[in-house]
Amino acid sequence: MHQKIQNWYKAHGRTDLPWRNTDDPYPIWLSEVMLQQTQVKTVLERYYFPFLEKFPTLEALGNAPLDEVLKMWEGLGYYNRAKNLHKTAQILTQTQGSAPALPSKIEELMKLPGIGKNTAHAVAAFAFHQPVPVMEANVRRILCRIHAMEDANDKALWQIAYEMVDRDNPFAYNQAMMDIGATLCTPKAPQCERCPFEHICQGKHDPEHYPVKKRRTVPTREQHIMLNLYNNKLALTKREGKFLHGLWGFPATEVPLCAAEYIGEVTHAYTHFKLTCKVYLYDALEKTEDHYFTPKQIRRLAISKVDEKILNLYLDTVQ
Ligand code: ADE
Repeated sequence: MHQKIQNWYKAHGRTDLPWRNTDDPYPIWLSEVMLQQTQVKTVLERYYFPFLEKFPTLEALGNAPLDEVLKMWEGLGYYNRAKNLHKTAQILTQTQGSAPALPSKIEELMKLPGIGKNTAHAVAAFAFHQPVPVMEANVRRILCRIHAMEDANDKALWQIAYEMVDRDNPFAYNQAMMDIGATLCTPKAPQCERCPFEHICQGKHDPEHYPVKKRRTVPTREQHIMLNLYNNKLALTKREGKFLHGLWGFPATEVPLCAAEYIGEVTHAYTHFKLTCKVYLYDALEKTEDHYFTPKQIRRLAISKVDEKILNLYLDTVQ
């Protein structure tokens, strides 16, 4: 089986991905964090290289201001990933002095902010060639199908993954698993006839049935956004609290001012809810807020996707 997977990887794997052609734990860790909730294509085309150019080493990241890190993450979403990445780099830089490095032990990796079980395993397997499995969504789906498991039980899946991993070639084995999941064992219309697991797969008679999908209905939240305009500049606040913390944003209001003009709405789908923002523009005669920026200046700040949509709506309205 392991030989088959190795052969498949050599022939069909995405062997040219940049984070697969380095032994440096820092870019490997970065790629794993970026890829947690984002597709390979997006990471590759827009984020991975610019981030590494700006922060080429763990030390450079640890010494950078959070604002600059968030700016490089802008549009990628799930900003806690960037904040934890930064926090971990800071911790390692401050505790190790010059040339800080990520630890190689899974237990040590998991003590660091933002490094969960899968990311720790991925760094251990890919950067330190340890004989351990990875377990992201693609791998989870393959394992459920091979074993015809309707319910993806975490403990059982990790146990199976540890039993299956190729201890002699953990790097290629794990990368291959992710590629098989991404290109053959897809959620819809998997290509079982091409899969190296076909002969042992117990779920191949009805692969889409495994694992059984839990249907989630996401609630819609509505917000009123007040664009406070003074002297051709817009008021912005730095977000506090859990949601989008650290990014700049347009403030929401309970009740829009009577004198404000409704200019339209923007929507955005988050994982757990859909956000609808009704946007109002208020041309103020006095300065009442702490921070005002021109649209051009706002483009240089780290803002969320929704705020970018709101800014575009504003620009469409006034132009
Ligand atoms: N998703 C998570 N880790 C990955 C990797 N190393 N290559 C491609 N996709 C991934």
